[in-house]
Amino acid sequence: MSRYLVTGGAGRLGRSVVEVLAAAGHEVISVDRVQVAGLPALQVVADLSDASSVRTLLVRHRPDGIVHLAGIAVPFSAPEEVTFRTNTSLAFAVIQAAQATGVASVLLSSSPTVIGYNSPRGWKPSALPIDESHPLAPWNAYALAKVAIEEMVAATVRSSAEVRIGVFRPCYVISPEEWQGAPTQQGHTIRERLDDPNLAAVSLFNYVDARDAGEFVLAWLAQADTIPNGTVFFVGAADSLVREPVGEALTRLVPGIGPLAAGLGAADPVFSSERAARLLGWRARRSWRTQLVEQPGRLGEPAGVGGEARK
Ligand SMILES: NC(=O)c1ccc[n+]([C@@H]2O[C@H](COP(=O)([O-])OP(=O)(O)OC[C@H]3O[C@@H](n4cnc5c(N)ncnc54)[C@H](O)[C@@H]3O)[C@@H](O)[C@H]2O)c1
Repeated sequence: MSRYLVTGGAGRLGRSVVEVLAAAGHEVISVDRVQVAGLPALQVVADLSDASSVRTLLVRHRPDGIVHLAGIAVPFSAPEEVTFRTNTSLAFAVIQAAQATGVASVLLSSSPTVIGYNSPRGWKPSALPIDESHPLAPWNAYALAKVAIEEMVAATVRSSAEVRIGVFRPCYVISPEEWQGAPTQQGHTIRERLDDPNLAAVSLFNYVDARDAGEFVLAWLAQADTIPNGTVFFVGAADSLVREPVGEALTRLVPGIGPLAAGLGAADPVFSSERAARLLGWRARRSWRTQLVEQPGRLGEPAGVGGEARK
């Protein structure tokens, strides 16, 4: 059993990360500005924008590993200057404090937005599916801060052999209650996102179940010392969040994507998580096809309760 500190543990992704780590028998400390009922963790209420409090927390709790998720999670949900400053300063404080206090491993959350899709000036992928070798082209403060966080990780690897550190880019996170009809971070439901493919086209139909992302975190923490330090991972579902063949949807709804989309299978993901499969043995187990709880009577379709998709 290890002791893990999860920043942002009360959030959409953090709650599932905490649940998965605790269910695996680990002791979990959630550090967040807010608390949530029923979380299987010691919940510490703190504002991580005070860098000295980060160090104090680590000295007090002495975690074996840190999962850093706290921050502003939605592009343009705050002024650009606030998003950039908050997300970079929180990550920098966590990395610095982890190194100063001898934490063995640190995993930080980046985002697929670093590759630059949905730019108002146009964007084209260099290849499909998109993997970690794809060029970066951030065009807003949120994505730019994530690129800065990835560079902080690379700089840490260059400057120290002590800490195991890594980055993951979770695709659009869907929490368990959102399969049941709870609103997503954009305010609509997952069902509405599927019924109007324009909603998910802006992020190339990427998604991941929060519990699958939690299982990725568990796999990374268990194997951080056996993989190349500083590795970046895409973490996404094994299919796309769209009802029609994904290549057709991309061609129709994403300007400029052109013939590249023709190479995708009907239910392929646009973002490849093969690196996580190869290095960590992790694959997403859940799909919208099995998780979505159809709302009876809303669109005249029968109710169906999804079970977990097995490998
Ligand atoms: N949700 C997604 O689709 C998605 C996709 C890619 C990456 N990410 C990244 O994953 C991480 C978690 O995202 P989420 O969807 O769970 O977001 P969320 O907003 O649900 O959770 C973030 C948590 O961080 C906490 N927090 C924010 N500022 C804080 C501070 N100064 N001190 C302490 N706690 C603070 C918030 O209270 C919140 O509970 C973020 O880094 C986000 O950028 C999320």
